[in-house]
Amino acid sequence: MSDGIDAILDVVADTAPDVRGGLAGRRVYETAENPSGEQQLAADVYADELLEERLLALDAVGSYASEERDAAVPGTDGEYHVAADPLDGSSNLKSNNTMGTIFGVYDAPLPASGRNLVAAGFVLYGPITTMVVARDGTVTESVIDDGDREIVTENLVVPTDPTVYGFGGRVPQWTDAFAEYVDGVEQELKLRYGGAMIGDVNQVLTYGGIFGYPGLRDRPEGKLRLLFEGHPIAYIVESAGGASSNGERSLLDCEPDRLHERTPLFVGNEPYIDRLEAALGE
Ligand code: AHG
Ligand code: MN
Ligand code: MN
Repeated sequence: MSDGIDAILDVVADTAPDVRGGLAGRRVYETAENPSGEQQLAADVYADELLEERLLALDAVGSYASEERDAAVPGTDGEYHVAADPLDGSSNLKSNNTMGTIFGVYDAPLPASGRNLVAAGFVLYGPITTMVVARDGTVTESVIDDGDREIVTENLVVPTDPTVYGFGGRVPQWTDAFAEYVDGVEQELKLRYGGAMIGDVNQVLTYGGIFGYPGLRDRPEGKLRLLFEGHPIAYIVESAGGASSNGERSLLDCEPDRLHERTPLFVGNEPYIDRLEAALGE
């Protein structure tokens, strides 16, 4: 087991209470936009600065990149490169709904292929703060309470009797092929869509099903970012026995040309991913 990866996981776990504790006074929008052209919340910037400072202080971290920054920030000559979505679903802060922190640990400079991931995880700021980590093919879930991290699920696997689905984007913007696919899914599963990918993905990890943010008529690349959201979540769900896709193949087989490249994103039980790829491939 790499103690460099352990150190990175410890920093994220130790930072989670500080991110959560800093949300209340940071529900205001900054004047700046992030590199994806989205308005930044003070909470986005705060979480990003905490993670950058603490991760780059580690000998193991060679660089830090985030959805809030134009370029990766060099650290030491550490072997790992961390990509983070410091606050996922930050638009949920105004409505006091779930949010998360997503991170991927790569063994190559960024942007890199999903196959360069050596670990990935997320923190979920829900009624309690939990942290899900995938490494070496196993997914564990921990409760973070006052900085302590207690494992509550040793080997998290996607349930084989799926229950929930959630798809982003406005329905009129869905392609005909995707809308037809959803017509079938909604006869079988129940809708769970909370506007923060991490909350919705955690529903799929807990109950089984599928989450996605498809390519849209006016935005074929979709909304979510491959490096900061797609790769880590795909790594986690595939490590938990599920599947991922950009509509054609595993997100882990996709290598972004640009740091902030967007992608259609789907994760969940393999049968639903297979059906999706067949539907979009027709
Ligand atoms: P972020 O706050 O990091 O930009 O992520 C928001 C993303 C993702 O969390 C969620 O699935 C999606 O945006 C929701 O988009 P809509 O508001 O268009 O549903
Ligand atoms: Mn974010
Ligand atoms: Mn996000």
